[in-house]
Amino acid sequence: MTRFIVRSAGPLRGTVRVPGDKSIGHRAVIFGSLARGRCVVRGLAGGEDNRSTIACFREMGVDIQLDGDTAVIEGVGLRGLSMPKGVLDCGNSGTTMRLLAGLVSAQRFGTRLVGDASLSRRPMGRVVGPLRARGAHIAGSDREGRAVKEGEECFPPLSIAPLVEGEQLAGLEYDMPVASAQVKSCLLLSGLYAAGPTVLREPVVSRDHTERMLGELGVPIQTAGSVVMLDPSADEWSGGWDPFEWEVPGDLSSAAFLLAAAQLVEGSRVRLEGVGVNPTRTGLLDAMRLMGVPVQQETREEGAGGEPRADLTTSPGRPRRTLLGGELLVRMIDEVPAFCALAVAAAGTTEIRDARELRVKESDRIAAMAAVLGAFGVPHEELEDGLRIEGGGSLQGATVESRGDHRIAMAAAVLGMAAEGETVIEDVDCVATSFPTFAETFRSLGADVEVQS
Ligand code: S3P
Repeated sequence: MTRFIVRSAGPLRGTVRVPGDKSIGHRAVIFGSLARGRCVVRGLAGGEDNRSTIACFREMGVDIQLDGDTAVIEGVGLRGLSMPKGVLDCGNSGTTMRLLAGLVSAQRFGTRLVGDASLSRRPMGRVVGPLRARGAHIAGSDREGRAVKEGEECFPPLSIAPLVEGEQLAGLEYDMPVASAQVKSCLLLSGLYAAGPTVLREPVVSRDHTERMLGELGVPIQTAGSVVMLDPSADEWSGGWDPFEWEVPGDLSSAAFLLAAAQLVEGSRVRLEGVGVNPTRTGLLDAMRLMGVPVQQETREEGAGGEPRADLTTSPGRPRRTLLGGELLVRMIDEVPAFCALAVAAAGTTEIRDARELRVKESDRIAAMAAVLGAFGVPHEELEDGLRIEGGGSLQGATVESRGDHRIAMAAAVLGMAAEGETVIEDVDCVATSFPTFAETFRSLGADVEVQS
């Protein structure tokens, strides 16, 4: 098992690129595979999560050549996927499993979606319920892998039986109980094949990459606030889309660790090139503005499927404490572990609420961050839906466990950069799911991060 050894070092200075956005990468691979011909996707993260999506489409007969961060995808069209010989292995990636659940539910072949130990603990009732409501033959398992009763929470593996001759998924009107781009995208993907419109209402708008890309590809999709409607029977739609060449912007969720570290390590100033700044993802930038450490943005040309992009430069200064919750939290849900490091840099109590969803991510991130903060000697309180963090004190180097969660490992590494003495983060292989170049990138800015196998 690999570990990070982190020691405090001088200020972080310089310009770097972060790997491509994981969420956008998954979708670019999916839409490329379903296009009518050869697509090119540049700037893919190279992380294991995107590779899981690529592997699943190869299993379904799509030829995808990967060369560095570029994928050349021989799209087979909406009706060109073939039955996989084995299971579809989604690895650690919840996005792969939930999005593919929607797509494969609409096919005339059956399959099984499986995941690693962490993914196998994540709830799937949120996609299985509405997919069944529109006529899909999909079922999850209980925690021991046995079949569950209708309406009960379920987990991977997911078994999908084919739609038989003459069967088609139905239109769907669905009030989503939680804001979730994975659920929304799952239902939109299945909606491409449905007999009627798909209308979804979210409590708060979650990331809208799927909607933007489908719109860019000419699919009849409309959004108004937190309502989205896709109508595949609209007269103007040809029932597919042409090949495309897209470039994936840098991942703000990976950039978050650099933004946090630059506030925590005194005297730092970093510039991050070509980062995605889709407004449904920029809650962290808003939070930093509230904290008096705004990130400067220089707009760049748009990336994949109409995604806004900018160069980001940190402002030197001391962040001040703040309160986070509601809609802002949905727009920074993956950045909360990095944000905890920022809260540590802010004197006084910072409170994070409305973050219950963090309990069902790659780990229980509320409990995991509480344990990390405790290990570094940061006073804090674990709440059912968030954390209170008392910042401004000193940090003691610590030995911490990643719990197999990439974002916990990276948040702990950032705290280690400002701690007295040495920090050891155990089990950091998981960092490769989203930010395989984490240690090199930080070292190039002057951090002391050693990788030990
Ligand atoms: C993602 C959606 C979010 C996010 C995840 C990626 C996506 O999950 O946490 O890392 O690409 O759609 P939820 O949809 O469960 O909120």
